[in-house]
Amino acid sequence: VSELEIRPYARQDEAAVVSIWKRSGLLQPTADAARDIRDKLEVQPEMFLVGVRSGRVVGTVMAGYDGHRGWIHYLGVDPDVQGEQVGAKLVEAAEERLVEAGCRKVNLQVRAGNEKVVGFYRRLGFSVEDRVSMGKRLR
Ligand SMILES: CC(C)(COP(=O)(O)OP(=O)(O)OC[C@H]1O[C@@H](n2cnc3c(N)ncnc32)[C@H](O)[C@@H]1OP(=O)(O)O)[C@@H](O)C(=O)NCCC(=O)NCCS
Repeated sequence: VSELEIRPYARQDEAAVVSIWKRSGLLQPTADAARDIRDKLEVQPEMFLVGVRSGRVVGTVMAGYDGHRGWIHYLGVDPDVQGEQVGAKLVEAAEERLVEAGCRKVNLQVRAGNEKVVGFYRRLGFSVEDRVSMGKRLR
């Protein structure tokens, strides 16, 4: 297996990134992937990372630090290469950048119905916390 390079997202990655999001089941029917990418390029774009192997984008992670907590979103690995440590390395790279930014704790949300991924995050040191996740659409 050739080496994984992890680097910030670049504009030419869009098609590959959206394809991974679609094929790894990350896009909700109402999601607007192009808009989510555009928005992230305005806020801490250096924390939007892709994993590249032999010139091909094989995974993504979108992280951010809000001054109190870090967050991880859009962690996805091309189904063709899942189980080859790409996900673990992307989370590790995101954590490194969060720590550099001064972040002490990182959170993430797992959608109901996707609980199988909890085992993956536990393997990386995350634990399930007793919280009720709430949200509100602002516009
Ligand atoms: C979840 C996901 C990112 C994991 O990436 P991956 O590259 O396939 O996983 P890795 O190969 O890096 O796995 C790292 C470790 O976790 C383990 N692991 C993976 N999935 C697991 C699971 N469901 N339960 C327990 N352990 C798991 C692996 O066996 C590996 O262990 P090891 O270090 O002992 O070998 C990937 O499967 C994916 O894209 N899934 C669909 C999208 C998704 O659900 N994203 C998360 C949204 S919250």
